[in-house]
Amino acid sequence: MIDKKILCLGIESSCDETAAAVVDSDRNILSHIIYSQIPEHQKYGGVVPELAARAHILAIDEVINKTLIDAGKTIEDIDVIAATAGPGLIGGVLVGWMAATGIAQSTDKPLVAVNHLEGHALVPRLTNDVPFPYLLILASGGHTMILLANGVGKYELIGQTLDDSAGEAFDKVSKMLGLGYPGGPIIDKRAQSGNPKAFKFPRPLCDKPGCDFSFSGIKTSARTMLAKYPTLHNDECFINNFCASFQASVVDCIINRLNNALDDDRVKDAAPKTLVVAGGVAKNTEIRAVMEKMAIERKMQFAAPPLNLCTDNGAMIAWAGIENYLVGKVVKEPIAPRPRWPLTEL
Ligand code: KG4
Ligand code: ZN
Repeated sequence: MIDKKILCLGIESSCDETAAAVVDSDRNILSHIIYSQIPEHQKYGGVVPELAARAHILAIDEVINKTLIDAGKTIEDIDVIAATAGPGLIGGVLVGWMAATGIAQSTDKPLVAVNHLEGHALVPRLTNDVPFPYLLILASGGHTMILLANGVGKYELIGQTLDDSAGEAFDKVSKMLGLGYPGGPIIDKRAQSGNPKAFKFPRPLCDKPGCDFSFSGIKTSARTMLAKYPTLHNDECFINNFCASFQASVVDCIINRLNNALDDDRVKDAAPKTLVVAGGVAKNTEIRAVMEKMAIERKMQFAAPPLNLCTDNGAMIAWAGIENYLVGKVVKEPIAPRPRWPLTEL
């Protein structure tokens, strides 16, 4: 039990969202603001790191100020400052981290360096109060991994992608189809009107034991198939069927690997009671539905963050800030943000 309510300002800037939130230790989100740069990157079909860093610089002060105003708080009311310190696009991470460091130093408040992946991994505890241990698939634009979450800072890697992330596969296939960026939500929507059996996509590694993923073969197969039907690329029905079939292959891979994970001795020994999906790809309608079914079959609870907290946001960073602060993980001397920072090195 927490004696005193902790109020945390969380800042996120590791990719293409400048975001901040004020969250308290009783799991209330007092305010959360996301300034999305998506329109700025759309014409390039993906995030341009240099443009992202500049856009973060322009937005960060206003995003933080507005977040405090919306929460009805001033900086004096805040107990803890938290910001993403990696992994991510380093130019962007630096902007948020330097802002947080400046605020913490000038106000003499504790500062928490949040691992962005831990932000995604812990947000189901903010929204669904999920107890440790839980089995988590963290699928975003940059990562895809299956983890046993044993405690704050305690993650055991059960499986991970050997090449592309799941989000990257959605984004690249969407780009091939000329549908736009980010691809995940577009393909998700198109797939709802398509036939998942129309095209035969591979299910890489699914005939092998283990919990690792490989998505690059699915992407290559998409390119090869598209080349066969050059005249149909603008056909509504063709696109919907193609999206549904592609998505089905990703979903099948996820379920196959999760089944193996649940049968893995490390997972069986820990006996997690909850199956969790987090990260941007956790927004996917089909993945959420199929995982929920899987949890029921395995007699587990299912948890996924609400849709607006799956993709990058400040609330997940603020919550991870609170959880880390409560176990004493605060910054004691200046640290350098990290473009790479595995969850197993916390
Ligand atoms: O977690 P996130 O906001 O950023 C990273 O930390 O990478 O995830 C962004 C990713 C993008 O690749 C996007 O296409 C994917 O999440 N995404 C989805 C959906 N919504 C977003 N993928 C599948 N289905 C969706 N509905
Ligand atoms: Zn993310």
